[in-house]
Amino acid sequence: MAKKPALTVEIRTRNRHKTKFMTKDFPQPDLIPLEFRKIENESEQLKRAEDFYKNLNLRRTVRDYSDRDVPIELIETAILTAGTAPSGAHMQPWRFVVVKDAEIKRKIREAAEKEEYESYHKRMSEKWLRRLAPLGTDENKPFLEIAPYLIIVFRINSIEEDGEKEPTYYSQESVGIAVGMLLAALHNAGLATLTHTPSPMRFLQEILERPKNEVPFVLIPVGYPAEDAMVPNLKRKTLDEIMQIV
Ligand SMILES: Cc1cc2nc3c(=O)[nH]c(=O)nc-3n(C[C@H](O)[C@H](O)[C@H](O)COP(=O)(O)O)c2cc1C
Repeated sequence: MAKKPALTVEIRTRNRHKTKFMTKDFPQPDLIPLEFRKIENESEQLKRAEDFYKNLNLRRTVRDYSDRDVPIELIETAILTAGTAPSGAHMQPWRFVVVKDAEIKRKIREAAEKEEYESYHKRMSEKWLRRLAPLGTDENKPFLEIAPYLIIVFRINSIEEDGEKEPTYYSQESVGIAVGMLLAALHNAGLATLTHTPSPMRFLQEILERPKNEVPFVLIPVGYPAEDAMVPNLKRKTLDEIMQIV
């Protein structure tokens, strides 16, 4: 097959008035036919859309867990699902560390409760505490030891190739989307989750011995709810409140 010409890119010099054209040896686009699952009729589309909404509308943040074990395959499949998320320049800037080990969970709880004590008693504003009050949360985090798994999501903020450092593009947005998909996948598999951010979360990097370019993003206990689990009585915004068509 004939070799395609190299990609020509326009590169601006430091002097903004001059534009230099350079030919760079960039990889060629590698395109394949789209695999797209068509849903033939609109009533079926609507039914699926409504079923999906009804299912996700039942997701709640759970803070009371049972210690019942969870098959690791459920965790693995949910993480695979999260890994299908779109990402800036397809850099997939995420790492999911799954903790089952009791001693590591104990260390995480101890460090998280220390940070949370500082937050609740010294760092959070009165306004913030007022917002949190209806949720009934405080610095005590027993679920960090009771839930069978903790998934700690790290955001990879840069990579190194041939000794050169390069940022990952839009990593906050990318990891946020992946976490949303992870929470949805775990919920769909019949598991409960908590989106936990015991800030600052640097201790997770230390306890889990992750490199400096992996920044803790969120800590997610996963398991089954305790029999008597309670949740705050929250109302979600209506469609009118969250959507605008122009
Ligand atoms: C980015 C983010 C951080 C959160 N951090 C915490 C947290 O540290 N502790 C906690 O108990 N809940 C935390 N939550 C859970 C929220 O309080 C919860 O999502 C919200 O009250 C709505 O409840 P729901 O998830 O049941 O709909 C967090 C949620 C998000 C999205």
